[in-house]
Amino acid sequence: MRVIAIDGPAGAGKSTVARALAARLHLQYLDTGAMYRAVTLAAIQREIHVEDRELVAELAREITIDVDNDGVFVDGVDVTAEIRSPEITGAVSVVAANSGVRAEMRARQVAWAVERGGGVIEGRDIGSVVFPDAELKLYLTASPRTRAQRRVAEAGGNVDEIEASIAARDRYDSSRADSPLTTTDGSVVVDTTGLDVEAVLAHIEALIASLQS
Ligand code: DC
Repeated sequence: MRVIAIDGPAGAGKSTVARALAARLHLQYLDTGAMYRAVTLAAIQREIHVEDRELVAELAREITIDVDNDGVFVDGVDVTAEIRSPEITGAVSVVAANSGVRAEMRARQVAWAVERGGGVIEGRDIGSVVFPDAELKLYLTASPRTRAQRRVAEAGGNVDEIEASIAARDRYDSSRADSPLTTTDGSVVVDTTGLDVEAVLAHIEALIASLQS
């Protein structure tokens, strides 16, 4: 299996970089955040309280989630746009801190990679927990202001408010008990502040080349 793991906080450029890197390396790409978002949406649609750990974990085991190039599907229904709503973004960290949900998602992520012979996989615990032996483990980050500005460029909104909300989400993701967001897993930290996508990709490709030489 050839796995490139990309972790890091919201707005660090993980999705853009992971997608482009996958295309260049002829690997498939998996956005694991979309899986936690899909569970969150399914819970809200069924009026299950996101804090109800048992019920949400049970739901996570029951539903099918397909994340591919065409979008994100829960039990065959296209939820690509809905999982990006502010309501889901506001609730997803609680679902992502649920150990039962995480155990199920991790197993599915490993199965996804085994089926495909690897991939470029992005999330928060991919290098630290899910694929500790990945060929390359990257931790992409950027200054909080830069990350907020990128989100505003993508989806609009007020930069100060978005900076505050991504800082709150980062704190939650980094302080939870089960597989918190961390750089202490031997990953290579890449600060993308002031870098465009091409520059980040060139840096990563040089890292891969140095591993192979
Ligand atoms: O990358 P994103 O914003 O779509 O992630 C959604 C949430 O899921 C975010 O709060 C972090 C969490 N997450 C996680 O805990 N582990 C992952 N592997 C991916 C995402």
